[in-house]
Amino acid sequence: MGLIWWQSYMAIFALCAFKTTCLDTFIAAVYEHAVIIHPEHLRPFSQEEALNLMNKNMDILEQAIISAAKQGAHIIVTPEYGISGFISNRLKIYPFLEDVPHPMVNWTPCTDHNRFGNTPVQGRLSCMARNNSIYVVANMVDRKTCDPTVSKCPSNGYYQYNTNVVYDSEGKLVARYYKEDQFDTPFETELVTFDTTFGKFGILTGFDILFHDPAVTLVEKLKVDTIVLPVAWMNNLPYLYPTAFHAAWAMGMRVNLLVANIHNTVSQMTGSGIYAPDSPKVYYMDMNSENGTLLLSQLDSHPKLSPPVNWSSYANSIEPFSTEQEEFKASILFDKFTFKELINDTGNYTVCQNTLCCYLSYKMSEKRTDEVYVLGAFDGLHIAEGEYYIQICTLLKCLTTMLETCGRPVENASTVFDMFSLSGTFDSQHVFPEMLLSGLQIAPGEFEVLNDGRIVNENGTSGPVLMVTLFGRQYEKNKPTNASIDLGSALLMRIITMVFVLYSSIW
Ligand SMILES: *[C@@H]1O[C@H](CO)[C@@H](O)[C@H](O)[C@H]1NC(C)=O
Ligand SMILES: *[C@@H]1O[C@H](CO)[C@@H](O)[C@H](O)[C@H]1NC(C)=O
Ligand SMILES: *[C@@H]1O[C@H](CO)[C@@H](O)[C@H](O)[C@H]1NC(C)=O
Ligand SMILES: *[C@@H]1O[C@H](CO)[C@@H](O)[C@H](O)[C@H]1NC(C)=O
Ligand SMILES: *[C@@H]1O[C@H](CO)[C@@H](O)[C@H](O)[C@H]1NC(C)=O
Ligand SMILES: *[C@@H]1O[C@H](CO)[C@@H](O)[C@H](O)[C@H]1NC(C)=O
Ligand SMILES: *[C@@H]1O[C@H](CO)[C@@H](O)[C@H](O)[C@H]1NC(C)=O
Ligand SMILES: *[C@@H]1O[C@H](CO)[C@@H](O)[C@H](O)[C@H]1NC(C)=O
Repeated sequence: MGLIWWQSYMAIFALCAFKTTCLDTFIAAVYEHAVIIHPEHLRPFSQEEALNLMNKNMDILEQAIISAAKQGAHIIVTPEYGISGFISNRLKIYPFLEDVPHPMVNWTPCTDHNRFGNTPVQGRLSCMARNNSIYVVANMVDRKTCDPTVSKCPSNGYYQYNTNVVYDSEGKLVARYYKEDQFDTPFETELVTFDTTFGKFGILTGFDILFHDPAVTLVEKLKVDTIVLPVAWMNNLPYLYPTAFHAAWAMGMRVNLLVANIHNTVSQMTGSGIYAPDSPKVYYMDMNSENGTLLLSQLDSHPKLSPPVNWSSYANSIEPFSTEQEEFKASILFDKFTFKELINDTGNYTVCQNTLCCYLSYKMSEKRTDEVYVLGAFDGLHIAEGEYYIQICTLLKCLTTMLETCGRPVENASTVFDMFSLSGTFDSQHVFPEMLLSGLQIAPGEFEVLNDGRIVNENGTSGPVLMVTLFGRQYEKNKPTNASIDLGSALLMRIITMVFVLYSSIW
């Protein structure tokens, strides 16, 4: 650790001493891109057709980059698959690949075109950064030749990596990051950072954010100030809904987070934002339009942090509430939660599962007969879209008044809460506090997280409540310590969700 610390200290020192003074704040931009897609049912493209499609997507990204730069942005993040369109098939992605060298080669593709063969995508991205004096984060697919007789080498003789690239404001390649599992898995989990005059950055892609390595290590060991996260993230209600989960992760991890999602309503992908640890700054989700959107916000280069929360302190200090109320089981994203229905307009509830006990005190403005709310607890191994241990306490609106619909996706509600306080006996110190109001709105400033681990609202919610959740990740208990069994490809996620919807409707 000493060496890494020293290196990054020297890097920051060098950047700030010789280029310009360090900035206390900077302007971040993320672009939710309505990406043009190669229809999956078509035959594979020729290289020329692939480049045509990528240029069409880059034409759109270029307009966003020019607009962000004109508004003073220092960095812009664009989505996963934002250039190629999402393609889950190794064969079909092949004509889209370019060889992306390691940044240590010190390369500015804009001014040095042919140094690594034919690299039109990298050349263009580098020029967009250079011509507009802005850092550009983009996602593409890298290929690396290998010997097909060697056991791990794919039969076509190429490793193919879902890859983020970062160009600095002079167009130099400063970072290259391989996603954990799409299309091939890197030999080692990559910890990729880059230093700027506006703080230290770390890079992840999509569902990598759910795992200890690289996500938690970037924040806690390598001490990055800001994470950039290109995603192709579906509307995974309730607690993996993109804006709510990303806002909660920034808050729980105490780091700035810049998320650019694809905009594709058919695949239910929308939800991008700029999130600071104290509050979301700007965010966007819209299922009713087909347009992309540019978001900008000022952020602290080194976010000011309040003292860390002890997530179990309150819940461990009190006796379980003795409310007589029958428990029942229902599934959220395949996980069997233990629930209790909130019968009255006010109450104090405890629900436990394994070692986790969840505590809720609440008051609704009225108890409606056409809506059911529950308190739920889950403590165990989550198995859909990757396997990982979670502990969750959740206050949730059920889809209908039938209890078996609790946990199914629901998008609107009518019940306003006058107050709530939710907490749990979490083992983990990695807990992400989430809230969604009717219409899938996150609610900045409508809840507080107290030092003793309670998420509270004292003065009433501004709208009806869909969900209040404490999402705990038990990284210590993870069997795979990396994301290698993450199945988070867009297509697979879609199939799982479809199966889930089917499964829910059968039951
Ligand atoms: C960048 O500027 C150069 C020189 O002015 C120009 O040739 C090139 O087309 C520009 N590229 C982009 C992507 O803006
Ligand atoms: C990731 O996890 C898999 C499965 O446990 C293991 O085989 C692989 O070696 C791990 N990779 C790294 C980089 O730790
Ligand atoms: C979407 O973009 C089109 C074309 O640029 C524009 O005409 C339309 O007003 C936009 N719609 C919304 C809802 O912003
Ligand atoms: C959290 O608080 C409990 C009791 O209030 C204490 O036993 C525990 O050590 C604290 N945990 C941390 C990580 O500080
Ligand atoms: C609900 O209110 C009724 C009437 O005041 C009371 O008898 C009952 O115990 C309450 N139930 C719960 C679960 O709080
Ligand atoms: C819930 O607990 C609080 C404080 O412990 C108490 O003031 C309140 O009356 C309780 N509410 C109900 C409905 O039991
Ligand atoms: C609420 O959601 C349900 C189910 O999705 C839908 O039928 C209903 O029209 C929605 N109500 C409003 C007010 O949007
Ligand atoms: C709730 O209202 C009181 C009185 O107006 C105020 O002092 C307090 O700061 C408010 N709490 C929150 C979390 O806004």
